This record gives sequence, C-alpha cells and structure tokens, in this order.
Amino acid sequence: MKVILIAAVTHDGFIARHSNETITWSKDLHLFKKQTLNHPVIMGSNTYNCMETELKKREVIVFHRKNKPYEILKKLNNNKCFIAGGGITNKEFFPYLTNLYITPHPLIFGGGIRLFEDKIEEPKLLLENILVVNKDKNIFQYQYKILSS
Ligand SMILES: NC(=O)c1ccc[n+]([C@@H]2O[C@H](COP(=O)([O-])OP(=O)(O)OC[C@H]3O[C@@H](n4cnc5c(N)ncnc54)[C@H](OP(=O)(O)O)[C@@H]3O)[C@@H](O)[C@H]2O)c1
Repeated sequence: MKVILIAAVTHDGFIARHSNETITWSKDLHLFKKQTLNHPVIMGSNTYNCMETELKKREVIVFHRKNKPYEILKKLNNNKCFIAGGGITNKEFFPYLTNLYITPHPLIFGGGIRLFEDKIEEPKLLLENILVVNKDKNIFQYQYKILSS
C-alpha cells in the first residue's frame, strides 16, 4: 500500500503558523480533494479540529497519541492512504511513508508548525511527477517517492 504524505508548505518549511490555525492560504485544496477521493485520510486531532471542509466519500481516521501508526495502517484495505498532517502526525507516520506530495507556497512564516515536528532520518527522494496547482501563481505539487531513510 502507498502511504502518501500530502501537505502545503511555506518556503521555509512550515505547514501552519500555530497548532490550531485553519489553513486558508493553501491553493491546492481542489487537488487534495481529488487525490484523496475514495482513499483513507489520516490526520491528527489538532488538524481535524481546525478543518472547515467536510471530507465526504473517504474514510477519515483521526490519530491520537495512544494510537500506534502501524496498527492503524495494517487495518486499511486500500491501495493507498494519505497522511494529512499536522506536523506531529507526519512525524509519527514518517517511518511508513512511501511518497510525498508537497506543494510549496510563496510564503515565509519564520516559525510555526513544521512539516515534521521533531527530527527525522534524512530520506532519499526521487522526483516522480510535478503537477500544476495554480499556473498564474506558479504553484506546483512535487510528487516524490521515498527511496530510503
Ligand atoms: N499546510 C498543510 O498542508 C497542513 C496539513 C495538515 C495540518 N495542518 C495544520 O497543522 C496544525 C496541526 O498540527 P499539529 O502538529 O499541531 O497537530 P496534529 O498532528 O494535527 O495533531 C496532534 C497529534 O499529536 C498528538 N500529540 C499531542 N501531544 C503529543 C505528545 N506530547 N506526544 C505524542 N503525541 C502527541 C495528538 O494526540 P491526542 O489527540 O491524543 O492529543 C494528535 O495525534 C494545524 O494548524 C493544521 O491546520 C496544515
């Protein structure tokens, strides 16, 4: 099963200004909805609590600190699932990730929630595809395969 981390990031590597920010600045929500349709989406409780968009037609699994990422993943019966933040959840699922779908945005926060909260082993990445998110604003989604960490 592909385990795909999907995120909108600033150019300095942040996904939010703080842990309960509702993300209104990202331009890739349409792509997120299209790509995750009919696939399980896993997110942390902070992210779930500040989401404004209802995610229909897909299983949303809210991750809590008592959960083990592997136990959640092994119960899934799908060819792919998505890890949809936030930074703590991304870090917890990092060892199981197979792909990254990252959309850098022309923003600098200078601080906040990192793509991965806490240190991770530096992975080797292979760029597989680049999708146009917003042509006028030059925003693209970079799709990487994780070769190893
Ligand atoms: N730009 C993007 O693409 C994007 C995507 C997703 C999210 N976000 C933003 O990211 C922010 C949330 O990120 P986040 O990292 O704060 O939260 P998060 O990963 O969404 O949720 C926190 C998770 O960490 C657990 N946790 C809390 N304290 C812990 C501890 N001391 N040890 C271990 N686990 C702990 C929580 O469990 P409990 O439930 O048990 O507390 C929960 O599973 C929000 O602003 C959201 O909008 C941005």
